[in-house]
Amino acid sequence: MDNIRNFCIIAHVDHGKSTLADRLLEYTNTIESRRMREQFLDTMDIERERGITIKLVPVRMKYKANDGQEYILNLIDTPGHVDFSYEVSRSLAACEGALLVVDATQGVEAQTLANAYLAVDQGLEIIPVINKIDLPSAQPDEVLRQIEEIIGLDASQALLVSAKEGIGIPEVLEAIVKRIPPPKGDVNAPLQALIFDSVYDNYRGVISYVRLVNGSVKKGQNILFMATRKVYEVEEVGFFIPFMSPSEEIRAGEVGYVIANVKTLFEARVGDTITDANKPTDRPLPGYKHVKPVVFCGLFPVDRDDFPRLREAIEKLQLNDSALTFEPETSEALGFGFRCGFLGLLHMDITVERLKREFDIDLVATAPNVAYEVVLTDGNIIEAHRPSDFPEPTKIEEIREPYIKLTIFLPSDYVGKAMKLCQDRRGEFVSLDYITPERVRLIYNLPLAEFIIDFHDRLKSITRGYASIDYEHIGYKKSDLVKVDILIHGEPVDAFSFICHRDNAYKRALSVIKKLKELIPRQLFEVAIQASIGSRVIARENVKPLRKNVLAKCYGGDVTRKRKLLEKQKEGKEKMKMIGKVQIPQEAFLAFLQAD
Ligand code: GTP
Repeated sequence: MDNIRNFCIIAHVDHGKSTLADRLLEYTNTIESRRMREQFLDTMDIERERGITIKLVPVRMKYKANDGQEYILNLIDTPGHVDFSYEVSRSLAACEGALLVVDATQGVEAQTLANAYLAVDQGLEIIPVINKIDLPSAQPDEVLRQIEEIIGLDASQALLVSAKEGIGIPEVLEAIVKRIPPPKGDVNAPLQALIFDSVYDNYRGVISYVRLVNGSVKKGQNILFMATRKVYEVEEVGFFIPFMSPSEEIRAGEVGYVIANVKTLFEARVGDTITDANKPTDRPLPGYKHVKPVVFCGLFPVDRDDFPRLREAIEKLQLNDSALTFEPETSEALGFGFRCGFLGLLHMDITVERLKREFDIDLVATAPNVAYEVVLTDGNIIEAHRPSDFPEPTKIEEIREPYIKLTIFLPSDYVGKAMKLCQDRRGEFVSLDYITPERVRLIYNLPLAEFIIDFHDRLKSITRGYASIDYEHIGYKKSDLVKVDILIHGEPVDAFSFICHRDNAYKRALSVIKKLKELIPRQLFEVAIQASIGSRVIARENVKPLRKNVLAKCYGGDVTRKRKLLEKQKEGKEKMKMIGKVQIPQEAFLAFLQAD
């Protein structure tokens, strides 16, 4: 066990984590150079395209150190995006140390800080690595100062590296061996294995990625999953070198995989502890807190016949993504579909893209919204994922919405604009401080609903891409929110209703009904478009009636012409929905519901 080192690499997006991992795999000959694809650890196509890491993959390397001994280094990859920060804490729990990679040209960014704090909380040994020193604009000394001052780590032992050019790689490996402590644990104690990830394989069932804390596990052993109390016989254990490779056994301190004919991920939950069924431990390891989806949207197949295929596809994705939730939903405009829950916008985007690409399903995704907590006058609390889940205003005691603590790192020139944006989005100022004379850290508490609209894009455009953000969920807060209903000719249309802050209700209602006025064709009678809160109408527009009768120009008795005209009209109507007496074109619904 003294010769094992378990570590991960943490970094802000694009600071070079994957490139560094590639170099370590190469240098230790874990992967022959000719098999080395760039960014080996990013396995999913979408990850590769977007240059982000989503799923963690643990890899085992062998390294002969300067002290002449051979070490086993287990690298556990971590995702770089805030949506997946729960996966970061999972991988951290399986390690004793972390390489903190900071781009020498960018310095400490929002997620450098967030990830470093997660690692400090876990009690990990942190090795600062300044990357990209090959670039002319590199400022290693400035970055060292930031690591000390902003993060509060000792930077005197930081390593200077160029992952791209392969500079400083042996020093990184030596530092891992010398500075990260070996795992503790007792091979003879009862088995305790932490499941830090699980994937579902069509042929082999669930493959659990485990970090053994105590004991050992081998083929044929009966194991108990402590959360579900299920017992299975182990079929295979092994390591990732870098592909799955069977082995005799896995022992305390090591990282590997266990296959035990488990058929659903539910039975081998991430965060659960595996123990020996015949000689069980008396307590499970501390797990992870359950992550709840916070962003929701509806997914509808463009072709109705694809509904069963869509269900199957979502179910398949869910096998490897326990954070994804779904329930059937019907929409008057879009037909049958599903309301899905996600960890954030990126998680949503990626899921939608995978459904389209991997399953070849044409989809309409509705604009995202958050989950609200509604406290009823009878004291019950319900969770509302869409406007139609909201009860009558008279039955509502209070509404709570999710808030995030948003940290923005940006050049000081843009502070004014960024603060205005946060204020416009109902943000509550928390703090502002200067990291350098040119760079500022700004913190706001912001309603998540305001963040998911297009906050990041707006921020990027007002800061010309020089801002980086990180956020954490800070729970629900009471808010003066209202549900605004839209009535067409007196009929409420569910698809158009929305939730917003009372102060913004009038402005938003007006823009919605103005847009609808453009989209709803004239009818034979005047159509009122109204916005209301409960029974109180707050805004109104009218669609004037058709002045001309379509048949008017068919003077005389040409019956065939008349009929043709009427038939033509009917065709057009088929793409319409009847709401009461009014026809609304499908595109009006799409204009409202569809995410950009
Ligand atoms: P995520 O997976 O999204 O978290 O990104 P990452 O941190 O893994 O970054 P990645 O390794 O994908 O590197 C981002 C970009 O920086 C790529 O274009 C790399 O080629 C480049 N890069 C990485 N290391 C170096 C370096 O040492 N020098 C230079 N010049 N470029 C580098």
